[in-house]
Amino acid sequence: MSRFDGKVAIITGAASGIGKEIALRFAAEGGIPVIADLNLEAATATASEIKGKGSDALAIAMNVVDEDAVNKGVADVMAKYGRIDVLVSNAGIQIVKPVVDFAFADWKKMLAIHLDGAFLTTKACLKPMYAAKSGSIVYMGSVHSKEASKLKAPYVTAKHGLIGLCKVVAKEGAEFNVRANVVCPGFVRTPLVDKQIPEQAKELGISEADVIKNVMLKETVDGQFTTTDDVADAVLFFAGARSNALTGQSMVVSHGWFMQ
Ligand SMILES: NC(=O)c1ccc[n+]([C@@H]2O[C@H](COP(=O)([O-])OP(=O)(O)OC[C@H]3O[C@@H](n4cnc5c(N)ncnc54)[C@H](O)[C@@H]3O)[C@@H](O)[C@H]2O)c1
Repeated sequence: MSRFDGKVAIITGAASGIGKEIALRFAAEGGIPVIADLNLEAATATASEIKGKGSDALAIAMNVVDEDAVNKGVADVMAKYGRIDVLVSNAGIQIVKPVVDFAFADWKKMLAIHLDGAFLTTKACLKPMYAAKSGSIVYMGSVHSKEASKLKAPYVTAKHGLIGLCKVVAKEGAEFNVRANVVCPGFVRTPLVDKQIPEQAKELGISEADVIKNVMLKETVDGQFTTTDDVADAVLFFAGARSNALTGQSMVVSHGWFMQ
């Protein structure tokens, strides 16, 4: 018997990077991951990869900032499986610029994807979770939920905000046996990070190697990137918590960058 046998998890942004790894690992432990992503083609490829290993998986098109799309996606999952045990609110993007140059439209886009997306998916999933008197929500925070870096004003703001949302959901959800927690990774080599290495090098006027060594990994204990597997371990740990002892919390997974 595996930890997540028969359980259903909606994982946003699971067509790529960290979310994809969480979906693969959830399936490997008996669960059915729903790959909810803006990019349906890539989501379908991830679902096919999982099915190829003998597990069930479902790909759905979902823009997390579109309330109707979120509600439809959750309704479709309920119609097909009749349960939502876990929500991993993971979809995200990065835009780097100093505050003085940050376009207001980009600020709003960042807050929308990271915060509106978390709110809308949480709201939609809480209804079936409350009805079932069971559920676990994991938000993809960041070391930037607790620490700041130059060039990342809306990202740092939104990631700090997720901790507030998590704490409220933990309090409101407790009587329904619904838990909420945040995983806070350090830098992970995904497309999101690969894209920002040259962008940060340009903005800071340093080489790409210096961005990696002296910006991204400078404060780690060993100069190592965190891996998607490391993050999935933490997410599944929270997702599988069996009582309200573990709720309203946030855990940093970062090779020691930002010790609490
Ligand atoms: N990579 C890192 O170093 C790192 C560190 C800490 C936290 N995070 C967080 O992890 C999460 C995943 O990042 P990643 O590095 O795997 O990125 P990624 O770019 O590999 O994957 C992000 C996925 O989200 C999807 N997506 C983007 N906007 C969406 C939207 N509006 N609706 C639905 N899906 C959408 C993309 O299509 C993509 O599949 C993000 O929230 C990110 O902030 C990443």
